Amino acid sequence: MKKDIGKTFTIGILTSGGDAPGMNAAIRAVTRAAIANDMRVMAIYRGYEGLINDEVREFKTEDVSGIIQRGGTILKTARSKEFMTPEGRKKAFKVMQKRGINALVVIGGNGSLTGARLFAQEYDIPCIGLPGTIDNDLSGTDSTIGYDTTLNTIMECVDKIRDTANSHERIFFVEVMGRDAGFLAQNSAIAAGAEAAIIPEDSTGADQLEHFIGRGIRKSKSSSIVIVSESPKCGAMYYAERVKKEYPEYDVRVSILGHLQRGGSPSAGDRILASRMGMGAIQALLDGQRNVMIGIRDDEIVYVPFSMAVKSDKPLKKDVIDALNTLSI
Ligand code: F6P
Repeated sequence: MKKDIGKTFTIGILTSGGDAPGMNAAIRAVTRAAIANDMRVMAIYRGYEGLINDEVREFKTEDVSGIIQRGGTILKTARSKEFMTPEGRKKAFKVMQKRGINALVVIGGNGSLTGARLFAQEYDIPCIGLPGTIDNDLSGTDSTIGYDTTLNTIMECVDKIRDTANSHERIFFVEVMGRDAGFLAQNSAIAAGAEAAIIPEDSTGADQLEHFIGRGIRKSKSSSIVIVSESPKCGAMYYAERVKKEYPEYDVRVSILGHLQRGGSPSAGDRILASRMGMGAIQALLDGQRNVMIGIRDDEIVYVPFSMAVKSDKPLKKDVIDALNTLSI
């Protein structure tokens, strides 16, 4: 494969879906690793939408200077409905042909890599994915770019909430992002010393609120904090309303952290992960890989087939669940 790759080999790079801290570090790494290997880099703005609309320009090394520490994505991002249709993907392919783009590097989450997978199935274009999502819900990788920063952001917020919760002796339900996955909720609960986490992966069938109350809001504790994974029906508001009705003796408040969880300068961990994965994307192309996501397992860069990466059944480890239950007594 290396023989095909050289000055005429051009990669397109885009960010797609929800932004995540560390995406810029990944853009920088992909760009510089590609140029170091004599490839050209075409930056595509606004995700697949920008590819369809030909929002493309060449990137040189200086275009990615001074961005490793910046949150968000300098390429902008979008969730493209049009790319999810065969007609949209056809338009995107035509733009790639017009621009002479030979391979696509997509930085994004589940939906974005599903799009890349479809595209690669329909057209003879090597697609490489980088897991860029705060949710950590992609399989085959221990972590995703943005997850560590967001965990830290949530932890800092909950530390602050704890001060006021203690002062007023209140129960707080703190809602965090994660889409359908509880990694952010469960692990931020451990990091912040929360009393419980309510997560979508709970398969016990038990009422998670009853479980929390049943374990006792100990008298010796001045406050309780329950981290709740976002959910259209059973978010933090739902549980707070229930406590108000069913246990009126408790003083309850809700804090929905929202999009502040996605912003901010990436942690050292995310910058290093994004840098290694960005290098990994270019190495994958040199190795003749196509239709794989770059993952990290046991501190080694690995290639994960898209079909496995987007399966949406990444398990939360049992010891992580046990840790919160045991340590929050
Ligand atoms: O996938 C990342 C994520 O932040 C999810 O945790 C959340 O459910 C969703 O994106 C929010 O998307 P939007 O920014 O479009 O509201």
